[in-house]
Amino acid sequence: MTSIDQSQYLVAVIGAGPAGIYAARQLSAAGAHVALLNRDIKPGGLAEYGIYYDKHKMKEGLRRQFGQILDAPGIDYYGNVTVGKDTGLSLDDLQAAGFQARLVTVGAQGTKWLGLPGEDLSGAYHAKDLVYHYNRLPPFSTRAFPIGRRVALVGVGNVMMDIAHWVVRDLKVDEVIAVARRGPAEVKFSKKEIENVARNIDMDALDVEIARVAPLMTSIGQDVDAARDFILSGLPKALPPVSSTRFRFDFLASPTRILGGDGGRVCGLEVEDTTLVPANGDTKARGLGTKRVVDVDTVVFCIGDRVDENFGLPVKWNEFVKNPTPRFPVEGLSYEAYDPQTGAPITGVFVAGWSREASSGLVGVARKDGENGARALLQYLQGLSPVDDKNVALVSLSQLLHKTGQPVISKDDVKRLEAFERAEAERQGLEEFKLKTNEEMLAAMGLA
Ligand SMILES: Cc1cc2nc3c(=O)[nH]c(=O)nc-3n(C[C@H](O)[C@H](O)[C@H](O)COP(=O)(O)OP(=O)(O)OC[C@H]3O[C@@H](n4cnc5c(N)ncnc54)[C@H](O)[C@@H]3O)c2cc1C
Ligand SMILES: NC(=O)c1ccc[n+]([C@@H]2O[C@H](COP(=O)([O-])OP(=O)(O)OC[C@H]3O[C@@H](n4cnc5c(N)ncnc54)[C@H](OP(=O)(O)O)[C@@H]3O)[C@@H](O)[C@H]2O)c1
Repeated sequence: MTSIDQSQYLVAVIGAGPAGIYAARQLSAAGAHVALLNRDIKPGGLAEYGIYYDKHKMKEGLRRQFGQILDAPGIDYYGNVTVGKDTGLSLDDLQAAGFQARLVTVGAQGTKWLGLPGEDLSGAYHAKDLVYHYNRLPPFSTRAFPIGRRVALVGVGNVMMDIAHWVVRDLKVDEVIAVARRGPAEVKFSKKEIENVARNIDMDALDVEIARVAPLMTSIGQDVDAARDFILSGLPKALPPVSSTRFRFDFLASPTRILGGDGGRVCGLEVEDTTLVPANGDTKARGLGTKRVVDVDTVVFCIGDRVDENFGLPVKWNEFVKNPTPRFPVEGLSYEAYDPQTGAPITGVFVAGWSREASSGLVGVARKDGENGARALLQYLQGLSPVDDKNVALVSLSQLLHKTGQPVISKDDVKRLEAFERAEAERQGLEEFKLKTNEEMLAAMGLA
């Protein structure tokens, strides 16, 4: 690990999900003082508000580890603080306050709209909003997301499986249709995640669908039986079913339009049939021009996310733009924010985790990426002189935060909140209890 001698280097890490928290640990261990600024009151990001809510053991383990990391004296936590171009605290403000480098680990908070007609209809959602809702992140926690009886889930990754888990086991809808633009050999979910809904798979419908796409698969050398076996690989350890929901797949179907009916509600999903074109050892979906309608009353896009355009960094495709010729590469990757208009890196600004590569990988991947982003940033710091007095910058930051008028949450506040929620869970005999609004959380911490 790159190491610097004393504690007067000052770094702002923006976003306390796994990438930001593990990066903060790395930076602090190397001798930098870290201000960790986080939009949510609680740290954890998608580990708190993305991972399925009943994975109590995994979530509690991560919470404990994050708490231990935040306990380090070289890390200050500022929760309930949104950094952005219009939030009263920008990346430039942090630089002006005296932070020598800023590591952006805010995840991928934007929505990957496909620009389809009907995306704004009631009953058309993006998975992240629903995930935030059932994991109780304000304000999504208290927002209504009416779900009908027949639900199309667009995309076949693990997020789709999490949403399927929710609508099959909690909402017990009649039918769930996973709509994939490619075929059975290109599903991206893992065997473990199918176990939650495997017993709801409509076997007859699966066999009909596999038979429909088999000639195309065979023609491009794909193993039809292996793909079918994988889809059913969750059966041996499947959870016992709790609903009669039918779960089926609709392959080689790319959404083109969401149809609206009475009251502006979804009444169908129009898809274009696709074929598979081999491309660089993988396949691509190519539209065939023929269209049909999938009979559903709810559509959920589970197709990944994009970074937030309003954060204040240049965005291309779904990600913040990185320096194509990094000055501080780590494992051959660029962690440096870059302005394509000036053709130059944005001095002192680094990106990591899902902010560097949107919707990519598990917590372990975000952890490694955060640590590597910290390593890149430490290389940069080595070329700078330490600040004379870090407290000057920390006081400036306090003044900026005061001006936003929002209560700022410290690590001790988080501990009080967690203790309150643990006590409430015990009192109610629940595995977990989570307050649903910021106001309730502030009151529980004695800040309102
Ligand atoms: C639905 C879902 C389920 C998942 N389930 C699993 C699982 O079971 N197991 C597993 O290993 N991985 C799982 N993952 C993947 C895992 O959650 C991610 O790999 C990881 O959380 C990404 O970490 P990150 O720190 O880059 O971003 P995030 O976790 O998104 O953290 C971003 C942080 O930045 C903060 N932030 C956002 N905007 C701002 C701003 N403007 N200013 C300040 N702070 C800001 C947010 O409050 C948040 O705390 C899941 C992901 C999803 C979407
Ligand atoms: N329980 C868990 O462990 C868990 C839970 C949730 C998420 N995660 C992780 O989080 C990461 C993100 O998961 P994810 O499910 O969002 O992403 P993902 O695994 O990349 O799956 C995205 C799906 O959306 C499809 N898609 C993308 N763009 C599309 C478009 N324009 N039109 C139609 N379909 C489109 C993809 O199809 P193509 O393949 O054709 O592009 C793919 O099927 C993954 O690493 C995942 O493993 C893990």
